[in-house]
Amino acid sequence: MHTKKPQDTFVMMSELVLPNDTNTLGNLMGGKLMHWMDIAAAIASQKHCNCPVVTVSVDNVSFTQPIQLGNLLTIEAKLTRSFSTSMEVYLRVWGEDLTAQYKYLSNEAYMTFVALDNHGKPRKVPELIPETDLEKTMFDGALRRRQLRLILGGKMKTEDAGELRALFIK
Ligand SMILES: CC(C)(COP(=O)(O)OP(=O)(O)OC[C@H]1O[C@@H](n2cnc3c(N)ncnc32)[C@H](O)[C@@H]1OP(=O)(O)O)[C@@H](O)C(=O)NCCC(=O)NCCS
Repeated sequence: MHTKKPQDTFVMMSELVLPNDTNTLGNLMGGKLMHWMDIAAAIASQKHCNCPVVTVSVDNVSFTQPIQLGNLLTIEAKLTRSFSTSMEVYLRVWGEDLTAQYKYLSNEAYMTFVALDNHGKPRKVPELIPETDLEKTMFDGALRRRQLRLILGGKMKTEDAGELRALFIK
């Protein structure tokens, strides 16, 4: 299986926020945004493993700044690390007022996807090799984030989360 680089998985997706996408305050609805984020992250994952994927986990999403009706929304998604059958994707969401020429970060999130074989069972994915310093930092952090997710999901015991525990216990 060929190794891949984070840049091989990069996805940029834009949408114009239309009336049907907004709440009564004229801001993009959170659920609509998460729908688009899910799609962008699934594409990034599929660029890595070249097979069907499913969302297995979404980390907390904080909506720092609302995206208003008529603004442009741009989602950037890129893999930070692949494990055995799962892949962590980092997403950044930008809003942009094209008239005022003002661009702002709306939120960031991590999502995890699992690659599936023809029987719908998890299948192995290629190794991801980080290149830049930032990609290497995110690659290292992905191990701890995965341990936290698996503990919260009841799939790992705290005593098995060595790298995560090391942050708190010297
Ligand atoms: C994802 C799914 C295929 C995993 O099947 P499973 O039999 O539980 O498989 P495993 O326990 O071996 O887990 C497979 C991978 O998922 C990872 N995983 C499982 N639960 C996880 C969680 N809560 N957070 C992060 N990763 C998780 C495991 O670590 C493993 O990754 P690895 O092989 O890289 O170590 C299965 O749970 C499923 O189909 N879930 C529904 C997915 C879906 O419908 N998504 C859309 C939701 S609307």
